[in-house]
Amino acid sequence: MVRSNEAPNVAASSGRAPRIDIHSHFYPKLSRQQGEVLGLDEAPWLRDDGDGTGFMMSGDNEYRPVQAPLWSAEARLGEMDATGVTVQVMSATPMLFSYAGESKVVARWAAMINDLALEMCSVDPERLKSLCQVPLQDVDLACEEVSRAVESGHVGVHIGNHVQGRNLEDPDLVRFLHHCADEGIPVLVHPWDVMAPERMSKYMLSWLVGMPAETHLALLSLILSGAFERLPDHLKICFCHGGGNFAAQIGRVDNAWHRRDIIRADCPNPPSSYVNRFSVDSAVFGDDALRLQVAIMGEDRILMGSDYPFPLGEIEPGKLIDESTHLSESAKTKLLHDNAETFFGLDQMKP
Ligand code: CO
Repeated sequence: MVRSNEAPNVAASSGRAPRIDIHSHFYPKLSRQQGEVLGLDEAPWLRDDGDGTGFMMSGDNEYRPVQAPLWSAEARLGEMDATGVTVQVMSATPMLFSYAGESKVVARWAAMINDLALEMCSVDPERLKSLCQVPLQDVDLACEEVSRAVESGHVGVHIGNHVQGRNLEDPDLVRFLHHCADEGIPVLVHPWDVMAPERMSKYMLSWLVGMPAETHLALLSLILSGAFERLPDHLKICFCHGGGNFAAQIGRVDNAWHRRDIIRADCPNPPSSYVNRFSVDSAVFGDDALRLQVAIMGEDRILMGSDYPFPLGEIEPGKLIDESTHLSESAKTKLLHDNAETFFGLDQMKP
């Protein structure tokens, strides 16, 4: 069922301003047979138990218990109605990237995931938008798939912050970003395959320390390598989890750049001068953290992102912004809605 005229009513009925959540995940309802496309010993697939719950599966093993909104458009829309989210921009669960696999196999895999995402969005294409994934281990195939996927209806691409031991400054990965810029395709960067798992096995430290560090690393890799000097100004690139540690540490990085030539060797301008080249989401979970983020990034470069529907996500997407003690009403509108609409070109688009 297409419910194309409901978006304004949803916001009105919830009493909340229209909002676009740009950081939300799905895991398509992959059959075991579809999961076997990757040729792994333990195929990834999704078991729907029919009662609103299910499991991400790994072969015969129950990998993680999950709830229906992760794979069901109808269940998502129900929760979006309840929390007043007008539009969601969905990305696949990063574990589905499969950057370690054989590239031609993963190209077929990515195309399948991308087509399944569009099937989910087709339930309500005005409110559900999706970002495609690509076989980033082979940039030619990645360029091919991103162009195909965007042509078929995705509003951008979701990539991991590193690929087979290479940071985003890698010339091939910069070439992919250049392709996206040339084609006007927005890029969302998500941390994955987090560093030093052997030292972060307890207390969800991979989420608390690893992910923000990975995102910081990705950003500094682009800045200090001078990649932003080579990439076109019109590249649209956004980093999840508030840009990780970037806002808190940019003073340290600028200080180092001024003092040590090895840090400025490939980066002609102070690192902080590149904040106008990228955006971040708002998933920082604290009023003071949001204040810092706005001070560093500016109110035009923060997009509301909740990390829905995972357990560490913002339960009521946008609540942090709504209840901010320091943002003006116009700034709140930008963060909740306008910046995302511009970034993903949603105002230009009809399903
Ligand atoms: Co996420």
